[in-house]
Amino acid sequence: MIGIIGLGNMGSAIASKIHSELDVIGYDIDAAKCKKMNENGVATGSSLEEVAAKSQIIILSMPRFSISKSIVSTICPLLQKNAVIIETSTILPNEVRELREISLQHHIKLIDAAILGGVSHMQNKQADLLIGDSDDVLQTVSPVLKAMSKTIQFMGPAGAGMAAKIINNGVAHAVMTVIVESAATAMKLGISAENVYKLLSGETALLRPLTHRFHERIQEGNYEGGMSTENARKDSTLFLQLAQENGIPLFSIQAAHSVYEVAAQNGFGKEDYAAIAKLWEKWLNINFQKDREVSMNETV
Ligand SMILES: NC(=O)c1ccc[n+]([C@@H]2O[C@H](COP(=O)([O-])OP(=O)(O)OC[C@H]3O[C@@H](n4cnc5c(N)ncnc54)[C@H](O)[C@@H]3O)[C@@H](O)[C@H]2O)c1
Repeated sequence: MIGIIGLGNMGSAIASKIHSELDVIGYDIDAAKCKKMNENGVATGSSLEEVAAKSQIIILSMPRFSISKSIVSTICPLLQKNAVIIETSTILPNEVRELREISLQHHIKLIDAAILGGVSHMQNKQADLLIGDSDDVLQTVSPVLKAMSKTIQFMGPAGAGMAAKIINNGVAHAVMTVIVESAATAMKLGISAENVYKLLSGETALLRPLTHRFHERIQEGNYEGGMSTENARKDSTLFLQLAQENGIPLFSIQAAHSVYEVAAQNGFGKEDYAAIAKLWEKWLNINFQKDREVSMNETV
């Protein structure tokens, strides 16, 4: 039996998606949410304790970490041996680790399955799940995860699923500001919004930094040839000049320019501008090449 705690927008979508394939019992503190589920053919329990006692796998879909923590503390002593908790609520990685510490005290395992996508993605089985698992329970719970998602990707130890989701959304939000401030600059210079869309739909601006520079250069440690950091610095100075001359406020592109200044000052001027990655390798004592070897074996 699969218990689903929290039958709000996302929890109810998860329950509706998986109950045709698996035995499901839901629970929500709000009786109206339980009633709605019953009307859709999903069984619900009358208490948290009842659902905990009946379930081998528990899915959490809670609004806040404090509520997840209180529920994990309540249900762990009641769960069957070898039960697993899947935390899908969006919380911080260290909060996942705190929940795992609590559950391990009761010999219950807990993984994080961060949901990429919204309610409609879940309803249409188009959501992607990002998994953090330190206890090798992913295979045990994979039938449940498969019933609710398009893809399941193992990201690393406990908390890594949530970290990956937060990073993914952070990238989307940062790229959004780059697109809007670039489009505004273009329009001020007489280029139509539709032409900006066509321009940025090409490979060079948005995709190539990832596909070529990150994947083919940074992950290979190859900074020879290409477009130099000096030239990237020069071109982004031109953008700043354009913006200044035309009174255009910039945020993201102005901040990004400073990285090229620092990279040039660190002696990377003649190397391909992917060499900005070496700054973070130095600051954080990481190695992008090593990371690649690990992650290639970790996609489920
Ligand atoms: N909605 C989305 O598109 C989406 C997408 C990805 C991730 N998430 C994450 O999923 C989680 C749930 O989001 P949501 O949009 O469904 O929120 P929601 O507020 O609609 O649902 C939360 C549910 O938890 C219930 N609840 C609160 N305290 C409870 C308790 N003590 N016991 C049992 N039930 C309790 C509430 O009654 C409510 O029905 C959040 O962490 C959110 O960040 C949501």
